[in-house]
Amino acid sequence: MKVLIIGSGGREHALCWSVAKSSKVSKIYCAPGNAGIAQYAECVDIGAMEFEALAEFAKEKEIDLTIVGMDDPLVGGIVDVFEEKGLRVFGPRKNAAILEGSKAFSKDLMKKYQIPTAAYENFDSSEEALAYLEQAKFPIVLKADGLALGKGVLICNTLEEAQAGVKSIMMDKKFGTAGNRMVIEEFMTGREVSVLSFVDGKTIQTMTSAQDHKRAKDGDQGLNTGGMGTFSPSPFYTKEVDEFCRKYIYQATVDAMAEEGRPFQGIIFFGLMLTPEGPKVLEYNARFGDPEAQVVLPRMKNDIIDVCQACIDGTLSNIKLEFEDNAAVCVVLASDGYPLQYEKGFVINGLERFEEQDGYYVFHAGTRQTEEGIVTNGGRVLGVTAKGADLKEARANAYEAVTWIDFENKYCRSDIGKAIDEA
Ligand code: AMP
Ligand code: GLY
Repeated sequence: MKVLIIGSGGREHALCWSVAKSSKVSKIYCAPGNAGIAQYAECVDIGAMEFEALAEFAKEKEIDLTIVGMDDPLVGGIVDVFEEKGLRVFGPRKNAAILEGSKAFSKDLMKKYQIPTAAYENFDSSEEALAYLEQAKFPIVLKADGLALGKGVLICNTLEEAQAGVKSIMMDKKFGTAGNRMVIEEFMTGREVSVLSFVDGKTIQTMTSAQDHKRAKDGDQGLNTGGMGTFSPSPFYTKEVDEFCRKYIYQATVDAMAEEGRPFQGIIFFGLMLTPEGPKVLEYNARFGDPEAQVVLPRMKNDIIDVCQACIDGTLSNIKLEFEDNAAVCVVLASDGYPLQYEKGFVINGLERFEEQDGYYVFHAGTRQTEEGIVTNGGRVLGVTAKGADLKEARANAYEAVTWIDFENKYCRSDIGKAIDEA
């Protein structure tokens, strides 16, 4: 069969790699893709938000299955456009992708169905938000309602900071229309865990857990980024935590969406905080995490095509998801200066080392093929993933593989997975 993957980051590279392993797949296209994805897929120069052009391409090439990696097209309704044209596509429809597309919607859903999450209020006007802050407890968390590249969350320690935050989100529109509404919620403490799951509208099957590192600098300092590295599984995601989440969070979310007339088919990514009162939902995403996908997919034993097809057909209960009994660590190699300003266009050396090594992967995020070779083309450039028998071994392997790669302005955190020493 022919598969089209939509997106261009490390997550989509990991998806292409996973899809390429399936014996059922004869040809992969990726729109728009990147230099690493080009090893497995024919990259097509159509942007992820050009729904009509993408659907036309899928028709013309007789694509059997399209997998959407990114949040923007999902929230924008790409699945509905493909389905209207009779094309088979993996991902939630627009009315279900709202689970990620509107934080106010997801908070109201959790409240209505008693799914554990931080206490909150939604606001449509800055005046009401500012009035509410007068009696609030600090620290407090402000969230732009819509998609904001993972940057629309502000943790404010004082009333003054929170007032400035409301102004930047709702009045100055720092995150554009994402800030037309806002959630103000209680500050929670605890460890964060990402749990990704496949969902077919009624059945949910969770994947192995992972933990992201969102801040740019060691010791969780510096600005928030798309993610500087991950490890899987999380040693803090114990059997007890899993049991609690199964009982109160996972199926409850899927049932709630179905009850609301918004059956969810695709990936639900649960961002969880393990608080002293128990696990609570920080946020939902409607897609694989990046870089979470780069540690979870290499450990998955199933043929990803079978699982995606079962989600579309509503037959996920027939599938048994299986993961290797090992661990993986991904260290993101970024351009120095990310997430603010950075230079690009530097030649990357050492990529070929990964071709001969089982259990080592280099997933491309921001790269470009030029006549001089593959060059840096973004803030996050590569994700270097290594497996190991346990997390310690995987971390040592990943940091060894980081030294194989060389490019000017290469930057990475040196403490990805350090938390496992505290487990
Ligand atoms: P989100 O995009 O909602 O996952 O938020 C981004 C990051 O902000 C999370 O990964 C947390 O580190 C932090 N965060 C979000 N909500 C809260 C909260 N209620 N309490 C504490 N930290 C939070
Ligand atoms: N790594 C976090 C995300 O994909 O949203």
